[in-house]
Amino acid sequence: MHHFAYRDNHMFCEDVPVLEIAESVGTPFYLYSHATLRHHFLTFEKAFERVPHLICFSAKSNSNLAVLRLFASLGSGLDIVSGGELFRGLQAGIPPNRIVYSGVGKREDEIVYALQSGILMFNIESFQELELINRCSARLKKEAPISLRVNPDVDSKTHPYISTGLKENKFGLDMESAAEAYKSATAFSHVKVIGISCHIGSQVTEVAPFVDALHRIKALIATLETLGISISYLDLGGGLGITYDRESPPHPNEYSRAILGAIGDSPFTLILEPGRVIVGNAGILVTRVLYTKRSEAKDFVIVDAAMNDLVRPSLYNAYHAIERVVKDEKETIKADVVGPICESADFLARDRHIPRVEAGDLLAIMSAGAYGFTMSSNYNSRPRVPEVMVKQDQFYVVRARESYEDLIKGESIPPFL
Ligand code: LLP
Repeated sequence: MHHFAYRDNHMFCEDVPVLEIAESVGTPFYLYSHATLRHHFLTFEKAFERVPHLICFSAKSNSNLAVLRLFASLGSGLDIVSGGELFRGLQAGIPPNRIVYSGVGKREDEIVYALQSGILMFNIESFQELELINRCSARLKKEAPISLRVNPDVDSKTHPYISTGLKENKFGLDMESAAEAYKSATAFSHVKVIGISCHIGSQVTEVAPFVDALHRIKALIATLETLGISISYLDLGGGLGITYDRESPPHPNEYSRAILGAIGDSPFTLILEPGRVIVGNAGILVTRVLYTKRSEAKDFVIVDAAMNDLVRPSLYNAYHAIERVVKDEKETIKADVVGPICESADFLARDRHIPRVEAGDLLAIMSAGAYGFTMSSNYNSRPRVPEVMVKQDQFYVVRARESYEDLIKGESIPPFL
């Protein structure tokens, strides 16, 4: 469900014509629908209402302050992987005691920042990290609340770059050594074991891998109980997929039914870290056609957005539907939709059947709300694009377009040059 729909052949975001926004802010730009973000969050939240739970929205999928503030106002916590994401979360008003911190490479300064901020829990991914967190919290005379992130070794059947729960992935601790790791964690003076966490992968379109992971984790929790270690929080990570093309992922209700069924009457608070399923289909990237050209081999549509703005097609060969902002009757062509960057991997779609378009036409790259802006860069010295949020019949620029001055911010030329 989303609020991008046509009225008289014009694409609207809620009650605002996308064309009007393009004329006001220029292209390219990211556009988010407030009603869609809100609806997706509340649907997910409601799916788990019958058990004690905390939704920690995954900041890496979309960390715009306005987006985070909206979720904060709906009671969300935050899943973070860096000091920068912690800063954004706090700036947006997410309460620190609803923030969980995962990631294999937490730096000492980031750990100290999180301890001083009073986050809910560190999801620890290695023994050395555990030692460092203990040292930092001893120095600060604190007790660090921790969970161990375990790697349940299940195949989430997703793209290899975004699968995280297999033994060969760098994430978490092996199931086999987890009980030992818990035992040593309880021996540390300045950490407090409160949870267990896992995340099996992203864009997962079936419930079975989540249930498999859960069964393995439950077995581990039972072992821990025999060792006298009790768990208050079970963090299942994120990963629920969305429809980009023809996938039919489970609805959050089906996902929660499967998870709650597998959990039974366990006494802990369930933490979930959804990202994509909340924001993915709530955002689009709007771009303008600069030129069209035909080589002997194929048709090219050259647009003003590029792989630096949306890297998913280039990086994962990901599919994003492409729609016209203003529809008219046109024959269909097969074309590559490409950006201005000097790389052959700079494409938004390849061999795609789209209506014949002309220079000046506006296109909407759909389902770009997750891992869109957050993965963008300044490659080819391209200023990053604005982010706009629509609420009903108003739109707000929630991040301004970068200027050329922004591109060189912080750079300096040493005196010897
Ligand atoms: N929790 C942890 C520990 C994670 O590593 C991730 C995503 C999430 C939660 C949120 O997962 P989601 O619900 O969004 O699937 N850039 C890739 C996706 C990378 C996901 C990394 N981890 C993409 O564009 O598809």
